[in-house]
Amino acid sequence: MRIVPTGEEHAEGFNAVVDAVARERRFIGFVAGPPLESTREFIRSILGGAGIQLLAVNPDDMVVGWCDIVRNPHEGFRHVGRLGMGLLPGYRGRGLGRQLVAQAVRAARKAGIERIELEVFASNERAIALYRALGFATEGIKRQARKLDGQYEDNVFMALLGE
Ligand SMILES: CC(C)(COP(=O)(O)OP(=O)(O)OC[C@H]1O[C@@H](n2cnc3c(N)ncnc32)[C@H](O)[C@@H]1OP(=O)(O)O)[C@@H](O)C(=O)NCCC(=O)NCCS
Repeated sequence: MRIVPTGEEHAEGFNAVVDAVARERRFIGFVAGPPLESTREFIRSILGGAGIQLLAVNPDDMVVGWCDIVRNPHEGFRHVGRLGMGLLPGYRGRGLGRQLVAQAVRAARKAGIERIELEVFASNERAIALYRALGFATEGIKRQARKLDGQYEDNVFMALLGE
């Protein structure tokens, strides 16, 4: 497995991974991926300096996961980046997520992002354990933030501050 910086050639692969994770209706806040054109625009914005995106690519050059940290563009908040990540089901639980997020945090630091924040559903114990292990602290909980398929989910707000 390789971890590579994003590029326009990966737009379709990245879009397909987001769509697959979204359609699980469990771990991320969307139930389907965005249109391909908005994924292309997103990648172009990252390449233009909007933040960091790293992709996990398998030996067949297929994108299997992503981690991005996108800088808040507003004056007074530009030291803040928002983290999102996901892996295809068959690639979870083998340390790839840890590698992706650790490298993305390092790249964000180099780019001058000091505070890295994220939201994670309270039932997502694996993701929460991973973020904690990297030093993210829980800052608050939004109760019953999502109601999907008749089930409520609390949203946990976590952040990692600069050294
Ligand atoms: C969350 C996700 C990115 C983590 O990546 P991963 O490669 O599966 O995780 P890792 O194998 O690196 O394991 C992370 C840590 O959690 C631990 N862990 C694994 N399953 C766990 C569980 N059910 N409960 C608690 N801890 C768990 C692992 O032991 C590991 O800790 P360690 O490195 O100290 O051993 C991945 O599982 C995923 O894509 N999930 C679906 C999408 C998602 O949840 N995205 C995040 C939304 S905020």
